[in-house]
Amino acid sequence: MCGITAHVGSDEAVEDLLTGLENLEYRGYDSAGVAVKNGVGIDVCKRQGEISKLKERIRGEVDGGGNVGIGHTRWSTHGPPTDENAHPHTDCTGDVAVVHNGIIENYEGLKRELERDGHEFDSDTDTEVVPHLVEAYRDEGLSPEAAFRRTVGRLEGSYAVAMVVEGVDGVYATRNGSPLVLGVADDRRYLASDAPAFLKFTDRVVYLEDGDVVALEPGDHRITDLDGNPVERPPETVDWVAEDAEKGGYDHYMLKEIHEQPTALAQTLQGRIGGGQGADGASPPAGNDAVELEEFPPGAFGGVESVQFVACGTSYHAALYATRVLASRGVEASAYRAGEYATSPAPIGDGTLVVAVTQSGETADTLESLRVANEQGARTLAVTNVVGSTAARESDDALFIRAGPEIGVAATKTFSSQVATLTLLGERIVRDLTGLASEGVGDLLDSLAALGGNVQRVVDESRAQAVAETYADRPSYFFIGRDVGYPVALEGALKFKEITYEHAEGFAAGELKHGPLALVTEETPVFAVFTGRHDGKTLSNVEQVQARGAPVIAVASEDHDAALDVADETLTYPEAAPEAAAVLANVQLQLVSYHVAKGLDRAIDKPRNLAKSVTVE
Ligand code: AGP
Ligand code: GLU
Repeated sequence: MCGITAHVGSDEAVEDLLTGLENLEYRGYDSAGVAVKNGVGIDVCKRQGEISKLKERIRGEVDGGGNVGIGHTRWSTHGPPTDENAHPHTDCTGDVAVVHNGIIENYEGLKRELERDGHEFDSDTDTEVVPHLVEAYRDEGLSPEAAFRRTVGRLEGSYAVAMVVEGVDGVYATRNGSPLVLGVADDRRYLASDAPAFLKFTDRVVYLEDGDVVALEPGDHRITDLDGNPVERPPETVDWVAEDAEKGGYDHYMLKEIHEQPTALAQTLQGRIGGGQGADGASPPAGNDAVELEEFPPGAFGGVESVQFVACGTSYHAALYATRVLASRGVEASAYRAGEYATSPAPIGDGTLVVAVTQSGETADTLESLRVANEQGARTLAVTNVVGSTAARESDDALFIRAGPEIGVAATKTFSSQVATLTLLGERIVRDLTGLASEGVGDLLDSLAALGGNVQRVVDESRAQAVAETYADRPSYFFIGRDVGYPVALEGALKFKEITYEHAEGFAAGELKHGPLALVTEETPVFAVFTGRHDGKTLSNVEQVQARGAPVIAVASEDHDAALDVADETLTYPEAAPEAAAVLANVQLQLVSYHVAKGLDRAIDKPRNLAKSVTVE
């Protein structure tokens, strides 16, 4: 978890480090700190709490003139969020300062060894062994760089580490299993856990790989492997612009990202439906029946007999949706929660394709599943938003959802783009497998092409705020749906609990009567998702909860009279094929969660106890 930044350059480090940390705060926000070289030593300032608390103190504690520094925003894994446990961590002399993202699994043994040799520790973290090891190797006579390399060679676990050290006008860094990106500007170099941290300063990036050691100097950098052999990694230009990662006038990133869904979907679909080259920001034209994925020529999925999806949280819901899409077209598909798959993997056959669905591409549980699948010889594919992410690099192939950066911890636009991408992927698999397009594909693709415009209508016309006000302050909220509506019910409930902190559960509509119905009372609103598939059965389930006095909010197509007549409240969307209807219904539920959370004054973009990118198992 957490975010790392580094600045090496001709100008002041502090401002750029703080900007970077603010852009990374979604990755962790229980404490923050910086270490800046001041010409005669290293100033460290670190505080429990959000970055705003760090900013209040920084001017008194850090030399503004320093041009080399590192920064960190933490999501604790070892030790509570206190000033002492905040990063950077230093050695006994204060000559070495280190920030770290991840977990050093063998830290206890290393700490015992260092304490035996007289090193004194100030924190409970696993991280603090790093500066002390560097100190120990420097005491043995190694140069700072050699001491850093020797130290890294002792570490087990996942880490991205950056270090400043007395006597060196630069930063050393490395990664293993945690993300680290290098930013290249003329006379400056940046490091960050994620490129948006420095996009304001440069769009030229190098995605570092596991085992890379990078030495940054003002206006220069060297990348080598752990043994010191040079590694060539030319910079790439990223097409995300800095404003994409800022709030743009909305109260919250989450609301901005909900509103960005039409654009995100247009980007997702651009050039992928029947060769339709929708202009920038426009939807592809209707009337096509072929899916074109530039990464995969026709026949690319020819040998695929079954698909196993691995994912967590919202991405798992997108994966579950994809299983319905594939199964309805005759392809065997199952979705697994990645944390479980990693320890209890499903059997893999010759024709098994394992698809990791992950917005960030850095979720540890999902990566572990991917590694298990790779070890078993499965063909693997990452469906992700982040080019250069670990999932993309560790899979045989990658398919990008192209949603643009998502900052709010609650995933919104990336769910819609995942679902659209997975629907296209499903069609491609069916066509490669059978040689034929699936039945009704023309209508489905037309619905996808129209999805962006329909999402725009939902966002513009939604009554979600009124519904949120009517049903605020209830003990529990339930969400039901079936077929492609079931993952939407799960996702609606996840979003609701994540940002409102109120109790919410999603159920398969037919399952309610097998237990959860005991919880249903006149005090528990039930959101019923209708997608146009098996709606008659869902209507019976609605009657069952109404018989227990529960108010029902139907989320249904605007011409679905049966659902709209029976419900106490309605949230409607324009008519669409069931696969697209699921996305539209989900947008309504995103808005309900947002407005309930806003009414309760919750930390919507950074809900308590959570982080955007969960890089620990
Ligand atoms: C969604 O709102 C959550 N923040 C969370 O469930 C998230 O979807 C999950 O951690 C998976 O993340 P990934 O897509 O980056 O792998
Ligand atoms: N394991 C380290 C700690 O607990 C780093 C956690 C993080 O990635 O923020 O401080």
